[in-house]
Amino acid sequence: MAQSFDVVVIGAGPAGYVAAIRAAQLGFSTACVDEWKNDKGEYALGGTCLNVGCIPSKALLESSENYERVARKFAAHGISVAGAKMDVRKMQARKDEIVARLTGGIQTLFRKNKVAWLKGHGRLSGAGAGGEGYRIEVSAGSGTETVVASHVVIATGSTARELPGVSVDNDVICDNVGALAFRETPKRLGVIGAGVIGLELGSVWRRLGARVTILEALPTFLAACDDAVSKEAWKIFTKEQGLDIRLGVKIGQIVRGKRGVKVQFEDGEGGKSLECDKLVVSVGRVPNTNKLGAEAAGLKIDDRGFIEVDAHCRTNLPRIYAVGDVVRGPMLAHKGMDEGVMVAEHIASQAGHVDLDIIPWVIYTAPEIAWVGKTEQQLKAEGTPYRSGQVPFLASGRALGQDETAGFVKVLADAKTDRVLGVHIVSSHASELIAEAVMAMEFRASSEDIARICHAHPSLSEVMHEAALAVDKRALHL
Ligand code: FAD
Ligand code: NAI
Repeated sequence: MAQSFDVVVIGAGPAGYVAAIRAAQLGFSTACVDEWKNDKGEYALGGTCLNVGCIPSKALLESSENYERVARKFAAHGISVAGAKMDVRKMQARKDEIVARLTGGIQTLFRKNKVAWLKGHGRLSGAGAGGEGYRIEVSAGSGTETVVASHVVIATGSTARELPGVSVDNDVICDNVGALAFRETPKRLGVIGAGVIGLELGSVWRRLGARVTILEALPTFLAACDDAVSKEAWKIFTKEQGLDIRLGVKIGQIVRGKRGVKVQFEDGEGGKSLECDKLVVSVGRVPNTNKLGAEAAGLKIDDRGFIEVDAHCRTNLPRIYAVGDVVRGPMLAHKGMDEGVMVAEHIASQAGHVDLDIIPWVIYTAPEIAWVGKTEQQLKAEGTPYRSGQVPFLASGRALGQDETAGFVKVLADAKTDRVLGVHIVSSHASELIAEAVMAMEFRASSEDIARICHAHPSLSEVMHEAALAVDKRALHL
């Protein structure tokens, strides 16, 4: 007799493990199926985010930024450090330790909340006896077991998109998995795609001494960001930090040689080639929907491979939900986690809601880039009248003290109602500062609301305060 559960979640990334924990908290018997194996060949929870995404990349960003501080930034504070060296293997060991601690932490949370962890590949295999639930096959090396679920949550995530004709070996030609695991700093690093991964991992290896060239297909840099942000980021990353970013590039043949790799490409000036020791291909990610039994089950998938869902992440099949990277919306861990909570609460007949228009984005470069809501060019295109307040960090006492004066806060508010429509930040700690903007937007605050809130002095958050004041042309320190 097959084991049966109220809820079976397929995928234990941030969307799936959070859905499983919340479902168990709400009193449902819950299982979570995952096939991820780490480089030791052991099953591991946490998906892309914990194993080869958010967490390891942020660990490397912190280590490499510390090196940059010692090597280049501390001098301004009067600190000179002779002979600073970077031990890349130690940096990687620290990162691996953080990953192990967090993935192990999810095992503990599963035990605490009584979520059954089913190790192996999950596949929908039809309705259970009497049409009562869905049958899910879980296949591992040891064989296949079938479980029955009253409700299914699909959280199978995404994997790196491949370029046609380019085979990723994660040694010389790498996606995110290989790019997070270099054992030494490559002398010459090529990156295809100046998106989030290209900029974050390009920054890591540049700080450690690599000559980094990024080839981007689009003619504009960071096209999804507010124009003021893209302009500022371009200046900082290329002119001040030395990332060599080429825009409007068409990639040709990529040939792996004995030592490295040669990338042929065309830009506005004609045909060129780039020789590098390692190449990172970061051209977006694709949802994991193959080998899921979706077609046989009648689950609707759109033409880009995403599972079709409504605002509450319900698929076209009753009691089957899908959350995270495998459905529409930004491919971000926190968006997936919020959807995971929402569907668990929905299954419990509670109200749950995720507003896709108020999901914050952060790019963890130095300075960081963070935003929420509409960009100025979006507001112009849709004809929404708006007012804008933009204040640089240059005049902030806290930023001066930290020697982190790059960037600004820009607040966009509706011209008639003053409701905050978008906030864009370039600065150190932008990832933390953006939380205030998200809170304001979720509570439908006006720029005047932010302007009337007391902000601690001296703090970077005062620049948010000033930018809100600047919307009404009454900034005090500008
Ligand atoms: P995933 O994390 O991809 O997890 C899916 C899980 O499902 C995996 O464990 C997989 O093994 C399992 N699975 C798939 N199919 C099956 C199956 N049939 N049976 C069993 N198991 C299956 N986002 C942020 O918000 N902040 C960041 O700083 C950030 N940094 C990133 C850095 C990098 C380098 C990368 C690559 C991504 C980053 N992201 C970041 C994006 C983030 O990792 C994803 O948005 C997030 O992991 C998506 O969560 P998920 O649960 O939907 O899917
Ligand atoms: P991305 O979508 O951010 O950037 C991909 C870039 O590659 C784009 O600029 C695109 O124009 C370019 N590109 C596409 N095809 C190309 C081609 N043939 N030649 C040259 N350039 C090409 O995707 P990326 O960086 O791979 O990251 C995937 C996703 O992972 C992100 O969109 C994000 O959702 C998530 N992520 C989030 C992070 C964060 O929150 N800090 C960090 C890293 C990843």
